Amino acid sequence: MGATEDAASRRPTPHRDIGAPYVGSSTAPGGSGDAGATWALLVAAGAGERLGLDRPKAFAELRGRPLLAESLERLDLSPWIDAIVVAAPNGWEEPVILLAEELAASKVVSCVTGGASRAESVRAALADVDEGALVVLVHDAARPLLEDQVVERVLGPLAEGFDGVVPAVPVSDTVKRVEGGVVAETLARDGLVAAQTPQAFLAPTLRRAFEGELAGVTDCASLVERRGGRVAVVDGDPRLFKVTTAADLALVEVLLA
Ligand code: CTP
Ligand code: MG
Repeated sequence: MGATEDAASRRPTPHRDIGAPYVGSSTAPGGSGDAGATWALLVAAGAGERLGLDRPKAFAELRGRPLLAESLERLDLSPWIDAIVVAAPNGWEEPVILLAEELAASKVVSCVTGGASRAESVRAALADVDEGALVVLVHDAARPLLEDQVVERVLGPLAEGFDGVVPAVPVSDTVKRVEGGVVAETLARDGLVAAQTPQAFLAPTLRRAFEGELAGVTDCASLVERRGGRVAVVDGDPRLFKVTTAADLALVEVLLA
């Protein structure tokens, strides 16, 4: 992961190009004041109904640890990330904080209680981001196999005038819209991609996007698009699939072995 390299020498260019000085990292958990320019929101507040366990998906066991540990540790080790806010399932805030301590994830600034939908969980986490933040990256805890190259890829276009950046993979199946068990439309596959996370945004843009109505919103970028923001697409990673069912979790186990 290149974690031994000097983080400062690998800073992404957006920070310089956006015009604000890079202010460095504070590693004080829960510390106030300047925690740095690039913040990650890790949304982990979902129930995991389709996984069907006796606990939220973020606490499903993956190689002896909660699923959340994988993405939390990777974000904490990333030289691109300065500070992390985790959105926890209601009642699971304490276990999230304990996990961050166990992992010595020193970039975790706070843990908020998530909302009824993913978008509401993002909104809750966004409220804890410092005013001075330049870039906010939003990642699903349900996508554990986050490689640092993807983080690097989503930060790049923010320096080129884009408001947001989405990692995506090509859609390989033919996609149909179905109504009442009958095909209503077969979509032309050309130009269709499946959006993943982490999605990256200029902090003020994301804040404005989350001021309005959140009903029916499934990803952050769509809110930015709705307001006319320009969202770039970069290569995602097939390993960044979302853990939804028990089979997905088993596949992650295999890929980590
Ligand atoms: N999420 C969240 N708050 C919610 C719902 C979802 O923070 N109210 C997070 C999940 O924890 C997950 C990501 O958003 O990391 C993607 O959601 P999804 O895969 O749908 O997870 P769950 O909602 O937990 O699963 P399910 O829909 O099967 O209940
Ligand atoms: Mg869900």
